[in-house]
Amino acid sequence: MKVYKIAVIPGDGIGKEVVPAAIEVLDRVAELDGNFQFEWTYFPWGCDYYLEHGEMMPIDGIETLKQYDQIFLGAVGMPELVPDHISLWGLLIKIRREMKQSINVRPAKLLAGLESPLKNPRNFDITVVRENSEGEYSDSGGRIHQGADEIAIQNAIFTRKGTERAMRYAFELAKNSRGSVTSATKSNGLTYSMPFWDEIFEEVRKDYPEITTSVNHIDALAAFFVMKPHEFDVIVASNLFGDILTDLGGAIMGSIGIAPAANLNIEGEYPSMFEPVHGSAPDIAGKGIANPIGQIWTGKMMLDFIGQQKAGTQVLTAIEKTLASGIKTGDIGGTSTLGEVKESILSYL
Ligand code: NAD
Ligand code: IPM
Ligand code: MN
Repeated sequence: MKVYKIAVIPGDGIGKEVVPAAIEVLDRVAELDGNFQFEWTYFPWGCDYYLEHGEMMPIDGIETLKQYDQIFLGAVGMPELVPDHISLWGLLIKIRREMKQSINVRPAKLLAGLESPLKNPRNFDITVVRENSEGEYSDSGGRIHQGADEIAIQNAIFTRKGTERAMRYAFELAKNSRGSVTSATKSNGLTYSMPFWDEIFEEVRKDYPEITTSVNHIDALAAFFVMKPHEFDVIVASNLFGDILTDLGGAIMGSIGIAPAANLNIEGEYPSMFEPVHGSAPDIAGKGIANPIGQIWTGKMMLDFIGQQKAGTQVLTAIEKTLASGIKTGDIGGTSTLGEVKESILSYL
């Protein structure tokens, strides 16, 4: 029996509700398979922990997490009590960076039984590869002067290694997909980062002559996500552009509450982290109405990553059957609770 040791960080808000639901589904699918199981270890890190201890996780938190095979995280953030840059840089972004989870894979595709807000969505199936450890997300910068002359400076740092790694990952994915990679740029407005990004894309694509490529400015690409999402296969984007594009990806699927994500350490040196696109949704937290599908589909991405693809497919099929049967939370036009959606998915496994 293969046993996977998973560190669980439910985090804040609806993270605490959707994570237990996803774990029930993952345990059930493992039990049905019979050849593997999960050993979950819970870590109560997040904003409540911060309010008590003055830090988002213990000082040796990263070392602790390194002992696990993978990390399963809900969401982080309690913006009314803890400034977001403190909570996110103290936990989520810290883990991504220190565990070198430099690739964030975020699919957006039309699921059976779900209605897209687009009038004519056709059958889109996009994978956004988001650079996850550098770029616009940097702690380099500062604030100078005061009063009317005050200035805030936020540097974006793009390394050749990091940029090339994200691009090569996208091209490798495209080989097993529909053979096309689109690069999200903005080299018309940004004078250093994006011209550099474009140059590297031009170099990398030469190594993949069988892959069709295109380059779009991020503003136009955002519009294309609405007008013709079916034309895209794999998209490679910087940290910030990928962030924005994937909430939009969730929205065109029907809701950001269903969008899954995987923060990958592709070198296999440290655990990867599986955490959906959405946040802690303070506006609906504690009501039992959050959509658990983003977290459950994220669990499917973890199953695929650890080599349990059969179980992964089973989970996605059960999600689609649930949607097709009309059992949906409010964000996607239904009236079901989180618990009802979970029970339905369990019953279809
Ligand atoms: P959010 O994703 O939490 O919520 C945006 C909107 O989508 C809200 O109206 C919310 O109710 C809805 N929504 C999100 N997930 C849903 C679900 N599963 N079911 C139904 N509706 C859902 O984004 P936000 O409001 O910008 O951020 C709230 C907090 O979460 C902030 O502190 C933010 O920094 C944090 N955040 C954390 C993560 C993460 O940990 N991965 C991601 C995004 C935002
Ligand atoms: C996400 C989130 C985070 C990000 C925030 C909360 C820092 O929006 O995972 O998409 O921007 O990466
Ligand atoms: Mn985001």
